[in-house]
Amino acid sequence: MSALTAQNKMKSLKFKTEVTRSKAEVSGIESLIRTMLRKHRTPFMIIKRCALQKQYQRFRKCLPDVIPYYAIKANPYPGIIKTFVKLGASFDVASAAEMKQVLRLGATPAKIIFANTIKSPEDISAARKRRVRLMTFDNEPELYKLAKDYPGARVLCRIKVANIGSVVELSLKFGADPDQAFFLLRKAKALGLVPAGVSFHVGSQSTNVENYLQALEISSGIFDQAKENGLPLKIMDIGGGFPIQHFDNEIGINFERMASHIKKQTKMLFDKNVKFIAEPGRFLAGPAGILVTQVIGRTFRNNKNYYYLNDGIYADFSGIVFDHCRYEFKTLRRGQKFLSTLAGPTCDSLDTLSANEEIPELYVGDVVYVKNIGAYSSASATPGFNGFPPAKIIIV
Ligand SMILES: Cc1ncc(COP(=O)(O)O)c(C=O)c1O
Repeated sequence: MSALTAQNKMKSLKFKTEVTRSKAEVSGIESLIRTMLRKHRTPFMIIKRCALQKQYQRFRKCLPDVIPYYAIKANPYPGIIKTFVKLGASFDVASAAEMKQVLRLGATPAKIIFANTIKSPEDISAARKRRVRLMTFDNEPELYKLAKDYPGARVLCRIKVANIGSVVELSLKFGADPDQAFFLLRKAKALGLVPAGVSFHVGSQSTNVENYLQALEISSGIFDQAKENGLPLKIMDIGGGFPIQHFDNEIGINFERMASHIKKQTKMLFDKNVKFIAEPGRFLAGPAGILVTQVIGRTFRNNKNYYYLNDGIYADFSGIVFDHCRYEFKTLRRGQKFLSTLAGPTCDSLDTLSANEEIPELYVGDVVYVKNIGAYSSASATPGFNGFPPAKIIIV
């Protein structure tokens, strides 16, 4: 057999194995859904603990020198937090409510970063009371608040970095100009705080590794400037943003490759004694979630099938609005596919999930499910995203 034939045989074997594996995965998920349907009413979200563990291990393996602080805003469900506590993870919280939750579920104060650059005075005092010392900031007025309510807090200056190609832009609202970072850190010291390092966020679902590489280069310049001026920094926080595959056949997302570039860059630019941390949310929670809904109504309009599901953008599909996310809708039915529209159950036309889905004909009661929906879905569906509750209603 020629080398080329052997190579082709190997390729075809690999292809067959991959197809068999993905078929097995589909049948595994679908039989899990059928089992759950016997016990639970839809809509429900299955969170696969093994997927949480797998993502955590993947992160640790690919970036062994970067400590992951799970950003609970992605999904603060207690079972998820407990799973990460057991795995030894640290946590990123955005409010005192989130902080209290992770502490209640077993995290220790030393394993928490308060990573919201704007904190209410009450939340700063809550952090002090609970000895959560590490936090981010990006402006001078915030330093005065921290100095007043939490002298001795350890602060990381969040800088504004490029978010090119990221699905959710996170540098519009946050981040100091990098040129100002050293001066802000020096000011922090003068005010009785402990300037500990730099942080950034390249935007959520960032498939562009250049964002990280460039942000690390800018940050290393701040570390050098601080060191030269007698203010050695210890912590480099590379934020979140690590992307996941939302669609089965999505290309261009390769966490392993991205992580290896990041690893190389950190080794090249920073001293050995610098501690690296990250704030992954979507990467850790997203792949674990499978949302299961049912058709509650159907019609034919605009030359298309319209199916109304019992979950929509005001609930677990809120990511369509807030997370700019698109999902792959799957059905348990097989057969010829037709162009269809999927909509949520509310009386609002905005509550349309997809106007152009190729799916088999469905009937009332049929299941429509979505994988990789564990992050920024149920979290933003509940009142109090990030731990900030809506206004209470006072009838007068
Ligand atoms: C400060 C901060 N850290 C971490 C995250 C988590 O980001 P991701 O889910 O993209 O990893 C976010 C997301 O909004 C954030 O604002």
